[in-house]
Amino acid sequence: MKTQQALITRRSIRQYTKQPIPLEIIKKIINAARLAPTANNVQPWEFVVITNQKQLGNIADITDYGKHIARASACIAVFCKDSKYYLEDGSAATQNILISAWAEGIGSCWVAGDKKAYCQKIKQLLEVPEDYKLISLIPLGYPEKIPATINKRSLEDVLHMEKF
Ligand SMILES: Cc1cc2nc3c(=O)[nH]c(=O)nc-3n(C[C@H](O)[C@H](O)[C@H](O)COP(=O)(O)O)c2cc1C
Repeated sequence: MKTQQALITRRSIRQYTKQPIPLEIIKKIINAARLAPTANNVQPWEFVVITNQKQLGNIADITDYGKHIARASACIAVFCKDSKYYLEDGSAATQNILISAWAEGIGSCWVAGDKKAYCQKIKQLLEVPEDYKLISLIPLGYPEKIPATINKRSLEDVLHMEKF
């Protein structure tokens, strides 16, 4: 899939088939993530891949709006070492994951994340060192259902030429 096509057709997918995702494809997706832009080239990120169904269920249980993680074939948990631009860096890596997955025909959904009260519980479950922040949980799976078009603000509405 061409880059523009992947960017404009990507949707958050929350229903997945049972088809497993080959490890090679997951590695390809993480490879795209590690090459994301990062302030001062700090690259504070670490990516934890979870494929064990019981553990996917444990993660889903901890979240509030991430119950669909239990139905995914895999989940990538993005962590960044606490640093000045950890959230921007981790978000750039997260977006690369969403787009790279979609380009491979794999659905995903950004599940928060940094501002959630459950961050500590996720870190404990995955044995993450104290000085790392949870950026996102990204369930992955071949789409069972692609949601209907949702309302997006138009280009005319968001584009301002020269001045706001
Ligand atoms: C920072 C952030 C946090 C999000 N957290 C959740 C979440 O916890 N659960 C969820 O189902 N979707 C979550 N989403 C996905 C949004 O709901 C989704 O991107 C939005 O509704 C637009 O739909 P689209 O991705 O299909 O364009 C999150 C997205 C972002 C960027």
